[in-house]
Amino acid sequence: MKDIDWANLSFGYMKTDYNVRCYYRDGKWGELELCSEETLNIHMAATCLHYGQEAFEGLKAYRGKDGKIRVFRPQANAERLQSTCRGILMPELPTETFCEAVRKVVKANERFIPPYESGASLYIRPLLIGTGAQVGVHPANEYLFVVFVTPVGPYFKGGFATNPYVIIRQFDRAAPLGTGTYKVGGNYAASLRANKIAHDAGYASEFYLDAKEKKYIDECGAANFFGIKDNTYITPLSTSILPSITNRSLMQLAEDMGMKVERRPIPEEELETFEEAGACGTAAVISPIERIDDLENHKSYIIAKDGKPGPVSEKLYNRLRAIQYGDEPDPHGWVMLVE
Ligand code: PLP
Ligand code: COI
Repeated sequence: MKDIDWANLSFGYMKTDYNVRCYYRDGKWGELELCSEETLNIHMAATCLHYGQEAFEGLKAYRGKDGKIRVFRPQANAERLQSTCRGILMPELPTETFCEAVRKVVKANERFIPPYESGASLYIRPLLIGTGAQVGVHPANEYLFVVFVTPVGPYFKGGFATNPYVIIRQFDRAAPLGTGTYKVGGNYAASLRANKIAHDAGYASEFYLDAKEKKYIDECGAANFFGIKDNTYITPLSTSILPSITNRSLMQLAEDMGMKVERRPIPEEELETFEEAGACGTAAVISPIERIDDLENHKSYIIAKDGKPGPVSEKLYNRLRAIQYGDEPDPHGWVMLVE
């Protein structure tokens, strides 16, 4: 496609040729359908519109130097979507159907997969919504699963560079026993004000402590947190954070590199002790943290003293990207080839 400026893509929506849809009616999932319509025609009393029966996922397809198309860990996204479905009483979509839908939508939009050299990728956005009409607070009896794609560049302008974050205490993203571990739209609605405060003040994103005690680290906006010290990769254990597939992959790679891995509650004060820290997720892979400001307590945890990403974060980032683009072997079988 000669009219797409691959090197300067942002993380935004661009119309592509097709999306894939699958309807759940009469207690079962139907066939996958290829569709070129961008809009959905749904009932005004659909439960997704009123009671938040909405789940989504996010994953990416990459074009390799060898021209092959690779999708990173779609089975893990399928399983997380199933967990979300159990969390908000929606019917689970089988892993095989999920992966087939991903394959189909990527293949149908092949001309939108950025070339290897651009460093860009094709973002895949599956969503599952309650479409059946309800007025009482109950789960719907009909659902729609849709997958669309859009070519994206880096989530943060500047790519792999450090960013500042700010602790926000006045709003919680998710309650301790709420929906934080599920990828539901409501969590993102709850995060919008905190996110705006952070952005307006010049930060990359808001930084959440646990909602109950405000003592422990939860998440970096819409990404998981990790810290590095003493050859150890440390990431929060919490009942209100999304189980990030990027984080899970980085834990494995850290272990492969001979590091120790710890998943445990991380008190805020421990931020002082990290040699490096990062936010991780599909969109940014790793976004190294420059500093985390705690404005209420007039504190600033400076992590990247020289303002640059640390060597361990860089090594993890390069290793993960190499697997995603097919530059290096994939020893854990994470990549699904689309042929
Ligand atoms: N945390 C939140 C709240 C997210 O929205 C995301 C993005 O999906 C992540 C973490 C990172 O998860 P993953 O690595 O699976 O993209
Ligand atoms: C991520 O992929 O890391 C995200 O947070 C996706 C976001 C656009 C919801």
